[in-house]
Amino acid sequence: MNVPFFDLKRQYNPIKEEIDDSIRAVLNSQRFIMGDAVENFEENMAKYCGCKHAIGVASGTDALLLAVRANEITGEVLTSTFTFFATAGAVYNARANPRFTDIEQETFNINPEKIRENIEENKYIDAVIPVHLFGKPAEMDEITKIADENEISVIEDAAQTLGAEYNGKKIGSTGTTCFSFFPSKNLGGFGDGGLITTNDDELAEKIRTLRVHGAKPKYYHHIIGYNSRLDAIQAAVLNVKLNYLDGWVQNRIENASIYNKALKDIEGLELPQTSGNEKHGFNQYTIRVKKGLRDNLKDFLQSKGIGSAVYYPLPLHLQPCFSALNYKEGDFVSAELACKEVLSLPIFPEIEQDEIEYVINAILEFFKGN
Ligand SMILES: Cc1ncc(COP(=O)(O)O)c(C=O)c1O
Repeated sequence: MNVPFFDLKRQYNPIKEEIDDSIRAVLNSQRFIMGDAVENFEENMAKYCGCKHAIGVASGTDALLLAVRANEITGEVLTSTFTFFATAGAVYNARANPRFTDIEQETFNINPEKIRENIEENKYIDAVIPVHLFGKPAEMDEITKIADENEISVIEDAAQTLGAEYNGKKIGSTGTTCFSFFPSKNLGGFGDGGLITTNDDELAEKIRTLRVHGAKPKYYHHIIGYNSRLDAIQAAVLNVKLNYLDGWVQNRIENASIYNKALKDIEGLELPQTSGNEKHGFNQYTIRVKKGLRDNLKDFLQSKGIGSAVYYPLPLHLQPCFSALNYKEGDFVSAELACKEVLSLPIFPEIEQDEIEYVINAILEFFKGN
């Protein structure tokens, strides 16, 4: 049997007609830039997240970039060193300065205590970007408290976490939150796309202006912005898929619980944790493989036809492009260890029961021999 890491065809095929009709409506209208499809999707996303404004942009990376620019952040921006590159790349491209700190061992998310320590030591921190990694909400109660006490901005990187909840509310219902519609995300487009949610009218207006070259009204530019609109065809696809999102997230949660039950007694594995005040979005089901066996397990799964992935092999503070920041190995030990131990298993909503069982049996077999 072959079990792919994910398979988008299984998501598309059952709703193909609905999606194709929605795309066709854009083709018939010939309105490819903004227009009804984008407006409808923004409205539906605002409703879904329970926020006032949802602003579509060209990608999750641009969502972060525009959020940093709109907040007028020019100083240092503290984020997790264990995240996808875009979190920090966007900060740099928004002309602010990315700075890194460590994660909590158990959650893979930024450690609030480290944020506090950094702020106490460094008066130049203007903002913090918690990343809700793999679909797990970061500890926003503590992070917001620290940020409020120190009057620094918070921008949430929820690229992997649409559909998750924190304290009974959807991620994106409070604060300034950035989402990605990269095809493999919980809500994936047919290409790139992103979105920012906020309840702040002024900030929303600024983001809307920044995404059209800073023009307001058209052809009058008080700030220099970007060409970063959500494509109308993407909006048409996402508008259909949004109706299915909660069901897909539920499938992900159920798949995670099957893995949890079956793998919990394996010594040498640590499984993803959830806490009582959250609904984990499980964009990824990421285990830790102890005793230096991660790459062996990955190879073993591959030999059995099972896809898996390492998110991420190198933390951001050790990326060559950030060498001028003078971080070194040993600075953030939890993140560095995570890079050596993490392995994400197939958890996509359409995976079949017997496929999950096949993955589980392969893992059990591997640990019998190790
Ligand atoms: C944590 C995180 N931040 C930002 C991004 C950037 O999103 P995009 O690929 O839509 O630009 C991604 C996804 O790719 C991500 O996983």
